[in-house]
Amino acid sequence: MVARRRGLRILARPGHPDFLDLPWDRPLDRWRSERSVEVVRGVHRHVVQFVDYGGTIYALKELPPRVAEREYRMLRKMAEEELPVVEAVGVVTRSGAGSDDPLEDVLITRYLDYSLPYRTLFTHRRAATSDVRGLSDRLLDGMVMLLVRLHLFGFFWGDCSLNNTLFRRDAGALAAYLVDAETGEWHATLTDGQRAADLDVTVLNVAGGLLDVQSQLGLPPEPDPIETAEDLRRRYDQLWTELTTEEVIGPDERYKIEARMRRLNDLGFDVDEVEIVQTDEGDRLLLRTAVTEAGHHRRRLLSLSGLEAQENQARVLLNDLANFRAYHDRKTGKTMPEIVAAYRWLTEVFEPTVAAIPEHLRGKLEPVEVFHEVIEHKWFLSESVGRDVGIDEAVASYIADVLPEAPDERLVLADGEPSAGWIGYG
Ligand SMILES: Nc1ncnc2c1ncn2[C@@H]1O[C@H](COP(=O)(O)OP(=O)(O)OP(=O)(O)O)[C@@H](O)[C@H]1O
Ligand SMILES: [Mg+2]
Repeated sequence: MVARRRGLRILARPGHPDFLDLPWDRPLDRWRSERSVEVVRGVHRHVVQFVDYGGTIYALKELPPRVAEREYRMLRKMAEEELPVVEAVGVVTRSGAGSDDPLEDVLITRYLDYSLPYRTLFTHRRAATSDVRGLSDRLLDGMVMLLVRLHLFGFFWGDCSLNNTLFRRDAGALAAYLVDAETGEWHATLTDGQRAADLDVTVLNVAGGLLDVQSQLGLPPEPDPIETAEDLRRRYDQLWTELTTEEVIGPDERYKIEARMRRLNDLGFDVDEVEIVQTDEGDRLLLRTAVTEAGHHRRRLLSLSGLEAQENQARVLLNDLANFRAYHDRKTGKTMPEIVAAYRWLTEVFEPTVAAIPEHLRGKLEPVEVFHEVIEHKWFLSESVGRDVGIDEAVASYIADVLPEAPDERLVLADGEPSAGWIGYG
């Protein structure tokens, strides 16, 4: 959809508002729109405003002419490749649309629900995950996964930092999303030099980001932010090698092909092609695998149950589904078809659990993440009382004792006050 008004051009994806009611004739920092909401955000240079359309929040970022359009195209291309990025919604150009000053362009993205800037993670530490080292580890793992995925697709970020990344809770881990693609470049493939350069920038930026929170929040001196950031290289190399390495296998080691596929699936990647090449050493074979997108478990869960989840969440849910099926098979002595098991698990276990979350607690954690926590809670409860507690008991106890203590994270307001949990929105 393209809407024009004297010098104003709004290009937006279908399924979103037309944004025509916003005061486009003024710079973003001089807006007084009743739609504005103050949301927490990372440290940044450009003016960013958030607006609320019936409970859906959009981020608007002012950028020099053409830069906004470039970032919009970049984000869209990344989304087409199923990379974890914020959703590009539109671009606004405003040549001569208002005051005497030339007005900058605006990039519109959809606010990523339940996403947190890294600094907020340090203030929202939950009882089970309260240590700084554990949190730093999860932040790094999330970033490494994101950077490796981008590099596999030939995307050079150029400005990877904690502030340009958003984090979503993912079954206890953190899934990282790219939020700022301004400096990015696409290449057919990246050279080792390009990857190393991107990693250098990342290490430097991450060290800076961790030092900032350490001093602002008065965190303990250990773990040392610089050492933590340096560890990114090791983690990155480990994952990159695991995904791209070539293996030599002997004539009676064909099982290694299957083993390698499984290892890649466990890491969350699907294998696109397996290439086996005869080596000069007679009967030895060289095994190469080409991974496509990450999201192996996510896609499997979606096809079985229609549920959208992140990779680790999907792993937890699939596991729970497998337990459910095994339990019934044991009880009946018959094998329940997987698709039937998926349907029954969805309607008998997953949906009732999510439906039990009271309205006023829904802004706290994503429903799928609640489900993961309930499963963990069930395990802890069973351990402490020395018998298997059922899902109903676990849900009741979790909702009474654990969830109320969790901070609101669907939308975190800038003054530190939790949002109203979306009460009053449509
Ligand atoms: N779609 C979104 N959902 C949630 N938060 C967002 C979104 N877009 C932007 N933000 C928040 O706004 C902050 C600033 O955005 P961004 O990094 O794109 O701005 P910038 O001014 O280009 O940054 P830089 O100084 O790195 O150039 C981000 O750190 C993030 O916290
Ligand atoms: Mg930024």
